[in-house]
Amino acid sequence: MKIDVIILAAGKGTRMKSSIPKVLNKLANKPLLQHVIDTCALLKNTKLHIVLGNEKSLIKASVKVPRGTNWISQKNQLGTGHAVKQALSSLRPGAMTLIMYGDVPLVSLSTLNKLISLKKNQMGLLTFITENPKGYGRIVKEKNKVVAIVEEKDATKKEREISEVNSGIIAISAKDLKQLIPYIKNKNSSKEYYLTDIIELAVKEKILVKTIQPSSIFEVLGANNPEELYELKKAHNNISANTLALAGVKFADIDRLDFRGEIKIGSNTFVDVNVIFDGEVNIGKNCFIGAGSIIKDSVIKDGVVVEPNSLIESSLIGSLCKIGPFAHIGPEVKLENKVEIGNFVEVKRSKIGKNTKAKHLAYIGDGDIGESVNIGAGTVFVNYDGKKKSKTKVGSGAFIGSNSSLVAPLKIGKNSMIGAGSVVTKDVPENKLALGRSRQRNIKRK
Ligand code: UD1
Ligand code: MG
Repeated sequence: MKIDVIILAAGKGTRMKSSIPKVLNKLANKPLLQHVIDTCALLKNTKLHIVLGNEKSLIKASVKVPRGTNWISQKNQLGTGHAVKQALSSLRPGAMTLIMYGDVPLVSLSTLNKLISLKKNQMGLLTFITENPKGYGRIVKEKNKVVAIVEEKDATKKEREISEVNSGIIAISAKDLKQLIPYIKNKNSSKEYYLTDIIELAVKEKILVKTIQPSSIFEVLGANNPEELYELKKAHNNISANTLALAGVKFADIDRLDFRGEIKIGSNTFVDVNVIFDGEVNIGKNCFIGAGSIIKDSVIKDGVVVEPNSLIESSLIGSLCKIGPFAHIGPEVKLENKVEIGNFVEVKRSKIGKNTKAKHLAYIGDGDIGESVNIGAGTVFVNYDGKKKSKTKVGSGAFIGSNSSLVAPLKIGKNSMIGAGSVVTKDVPENKLALGRSRQRNIKRK
């Protein structure tokens, strides 16, 4: 079966009160519209038709779409029915049409697949039951059959009490849609062409309106205003945490975390409170992520311990590394296995070989460090001369004494030792002791 998906994203989104179009507001680091696009792209045999109006070019430039996506323009925003009308001529004969709203981002693939499995003379409507139906179209039923959707603004007091509401998501054959849309009128309090009027029209044509409910209410929450967007963020957090918990991740408190992207975590990893995961994060098995840490766009292999309040961004952490507390790693850092980066150490654009340790108060910038190196407390990689950044290479087995300044560009040979407090400006060959400081003199006090 061919599926034509129409995504409505032309509205102004005035209620959101944001400077960008509503569908570009972000949920888990992704525009609302992108969530809808990504889910629909997973359906088999689909073609997407995205209806845009306001800030067309900005929206087009801000989302990634599958090849062959059809952009449709709705010049004036005269309502959801009018928006769908703009797409009618693009629908493929014999296709099933799935209508999605760009501001309802969390619907699942399995719910959509249920909705589109229809018999002849049926249309599918995704509804849900809520204690707080405010703002949603109410589902009017007679003898247990759907007969209409009434928008909140046009509903009577009695109709407003109906707790079954419209998610906005509809499946209908292209043929029936083309036949019914032209009959939608704008005789309502908003003077808009409501797509929802299609239900009454379908019932008149003896089309059965089959309602489907999502497995979780989160799937159908819309984001029309900042409060609803906040609810969605909470819902997304819950879904992510619960899915991971079911797969064996241990959370100290599922309600005190932030998932702002695509997060993968292996089983038996423990995540303490107030951790933020941002962007694309992939954490292995048996790790410990301490309280207050922020992990952004990074890969962390198995058995890593991240002590509290550490920030790891755009980096790769090898297995069994120990990080923090209060460490800052990234961007562009690669740690081999069993590296230890401790308290108040910053590492930037550097590669560090296995078993190397920098446990206290150091800055490692633009470094290329071998295996089993010890970097003493207070070591600074002096990588910037005010104009450009330069590299420091440290060979395996070297020992950098505390409070040393390694002035780049610099090479320190294998197994060499730098005396504490040295300012090293010249390369050090292998197996040497370098002292770059004045000799201590003990002088008689006056
Ligand atoms: C709509 C439904 C309501 C449903 C709710 C679910 C109608 C009339 N009402 O209300 O029954 O419960 O969604 O979230 O459909 N859009 C256009 N062109 C337009 C108008 C809107 O493309 O001319 C787009 C918007 O960008 C948005 C979507 O259609 O992505 C829905 O419009 P919105 O104004 O948010 O409708 P709701 O009031 O939420
Ligand atoms: Mg809406």
